[in-house]
Amino acid sequence: MTQPPLTMPPTDREIAAAADAILAGDLVAMPTETVYGLAADATNGEAVARIYALKGRPRFNPLIAHAETPKAALSLTGPDHCAARLAEAFWPGPLTIVLPLAPKTPEEVHTPEIAGIATAGLDSIAVRVPAHPVARALLEAVGRPLVAPSANRSGRVSPTTAAHVHTEFPGALRVLDGGPASIGLESTIISLLGSRPMLLRPGYVTKAALEAVLGHPVATQVTGAGIIAPGMLTSHYAPKASVRLNAQTAAPGEVLLGFGGTEGATLDLSVSGDLIEAAANLFGHLRRLDEMDAPIAVAPIPAHGLGEAICDRLARAAAPRG
Ligand code: TXA
Ligand code: MG
Repeated sequence: MTQPPLTMPPTDREIAAAADAILAGDLVAMPTETVYGLAADATNGEAVARIYALKGRPRFNPLIAHAETPKAALSLTGPDHCAARLAEAFWPGPLTIVLPLAPKTPEEVHTPEIAGIATAGLDSIAVRVPAHPVARALLEAVGRPLVAPSANRSGRVSPTTAAHVHTEFPGALRVLDGGPASIGLESTIISLLGSRPMLLRPGYVTKAALEAVLGHPVATQVTGAGIIAPGMLTSHYAPKASVRLNAQTAAPGEVLLGFGGTEGATLDLSVSGDLIEAAANLFGHLRRLDEMDAPIAVAPIPAHGLGEAICDRLARAAAPRG
């Protein structure tokens, strides 16, 4: 029998340094019991945008918010008694639950908000409480939710060791080594948004185990039925207002979303033309413009690098509504 390689767990000092880096807006690869994740402060839109840039993820796909405790995770969501039961049974552990995003109460207006880019502008959120002690220590040290997709380049295999992560992102990234991932398969995802619980991604927590806890059947997402990956939907982020792309100027009555210092812009995604800043601002700016109750014109955005994902999202916002 081959023994897994012995690794020294990160010291308290390494965890504290990683937490400081995250609070400064950097990305850190962290071990979880499922796969290694590329973690960022979920409340920092620019840090979250860096995840998409580093992974080369072709479009914004909503990310999972990881929290230290079930209470912290469920504080991000609207109340739901099925969620409370699943949390009790499976957290900490490899289960992700999709729920409506919590409405903000007046007392919470000053608490940091989950960045719009983390949920891809949806009004739902995927939450999970990881079991890995290093992930938990990092979450405790940061004191905020962390978003973390698997720490691989888009389209590649998920990493289950620190060495895999180093191979994916040579030299560039701080990696906390927590040994080989014990599960090695991404978390089970269940959505509680509809009238029946729906399994969106199978994983270590099986459908039968979920049904045993809930006491009723769990539906399985039928491939091709549409809703699974919200990022795949044609009309995905749909502002109330109409959206017109590649506008050089605003027509009378329109509000203008600029880029790179567009003259006459109502709001500019990044005056300096920085695509990371633009990606971080995208969903928030669209929401603010939508509140102005006027058609939205959008200045041209370069389609390279992270601009591709921005253009993809804007194309969805402008797509004919179903
Ligand atoms: O095991 C895991 O879950 C790992 C570790 C690092 O925690 N993370 C992970 O993240 O697999 P990622 O980004 O590869 O997968 C997130 C999945 C995507 O398929 C996304 O569409 C789905 O979660 N998702 C996130 N928010 C959602 C939402 N509001 N509604 C439906 N699906 C959502
Ligand atoms: Mg992945």
